[in-house]
Amino acid sequence: MGDLTLKNRVIMAPMTRNRADNKENAPTNIHITYYEQRRSAGLIITEGSQVSERAVGYINTPGIYSEAQVEGWRKVTEAVHEQDGKIFIQLWHCGSISHPKFHNGEKPLAPSAVNPNIKIFTPEGEEDTLEPMSMSIPEIKETVQEFKKAAKNAKDAGFDGIELHSSNGYLFHQFFNSNSNTRTDEYGGSIPNRARFLFEVIEAVGEIWPENRIGVRLNPSLNEAFGIIANPETIPTFDYIIEKLNGYDLAYLHLSEPFTDVSKIDYLEPNIAKHYRPIYQGTLMINNGFDQEKGNKVIEEGTADLVSFAKLFISNPDLPERFRAHAPLAEWDSDTFYTSGEKGYTDYPSMEKKIENQ
Ligand SMILES: Cc1cc2nc3c(=O)[nH]c(=O)nc-3n(C[C@H](O)[C@H](O)[C@H](O)COP(=O)(O)O)c2cc1C
Repeated sequence: MGDLTLKNRVIMAPMTRNRADNKENAPTNIHITYYEQRRSAGLIITEGSQVSERAVGYINTPGIYSEAQVEGWRKVTEAVHEQDGKIFIQLWHCGSISHPKFHNGEKPLAPSAVNPNIKIFTPEGEEDTLEPMSMSIPEIKETVQEFKKAAKNAKDAGFDGIELHSSNGYLFHQFFNSNSNTRTDEYGGSIPNRARFLFEVIEAVGEIWPENRIGVRLNPSLNEAFGIIANPETIPTFDYIIEKLNGYDLAYLHLSEPFTDVSKIDYLEPNIAKHYRPIYQGTLMINNGFDQEKGNKVIEEGTADLVSFAKLFISNPDLPERFRAHAPLAEWDSDTFYTSGEKGYTDYPSMEKKIENQ
């Protein structure tokens, strides 16, 4: 992958776990343990990490904009590297999937004042999203610079690279989609205009990192989830973006198969890897619902180069080793995905530990 040699094709997908429950929203000792336990992944992609205070949309998610956060992440990368692991950080801006309670009463920033109409968790519990504030051009430029600063911080923290979270209905995706982006300036309207913000960010972070240490995540057929309603312009928009990404020597393009059933929607693509493999010339990572068998199949068919696993990595910290040994897989407990502390986070045993304890 780029200039990095990965020890296997089993990638740990980014997962928000809400354990940065301290004033600084900095990674802590349990983050070190959690990521270090998962070091046998070919590559770890961290949870989404906000690039600024304005980027926040969830409680207790870590950031990568303050000194304390960089310090916290440095300890994580050191621990992973000591064990010969590789780790990218996912850079995140939630855009409209946020709440004024995270921003001292100010509305969240988004391409347009379009409420995503979903439920989110604020410090006071579950609430409805509200209408966000349409970003001015200076605010868009400032946000590009926030990504650049975060990319620099990621380098200082010792990461091997960065992944842009341009997926799953967050800020970049809000720019791509013509329902959430109703702008009439150079960031809205035409497909190139709706894609512009992503390419400006790629150019900006490309001044900090070589292109082959930058990954981009996209979820082209996302529909009726995370505030995104797809429409007939959706797939042509992603076709344009992915075609244009060929002009960059990226570490990888990280795609998701649809999160919901889109087989009956004629303008959406039900087979993302199959559709985009012939279009994208670089390293293609695929995600969503894979197990060992399906992962091997997609690699053997040549439809993807890497497969990322999310939930399986929560409950099986040594997932590649289990795949190798054809060992039983542990079930994940979704009740502890987004809670605090070690429970459901660092207490899933590795195979060796399980045998020792038997
Ligand atoms: C607890 C949890 C948190 C997640 N957080 C993120 C995130 O921060 N960034 C992201 O791009 N995707 C996130 N996702 C989506 C996963 O990366 C992945 O796309 C999804 O779980 C499907 O993969 P799987 O079938 O292997 O679990 C999250 C998923 C879960 C279960």
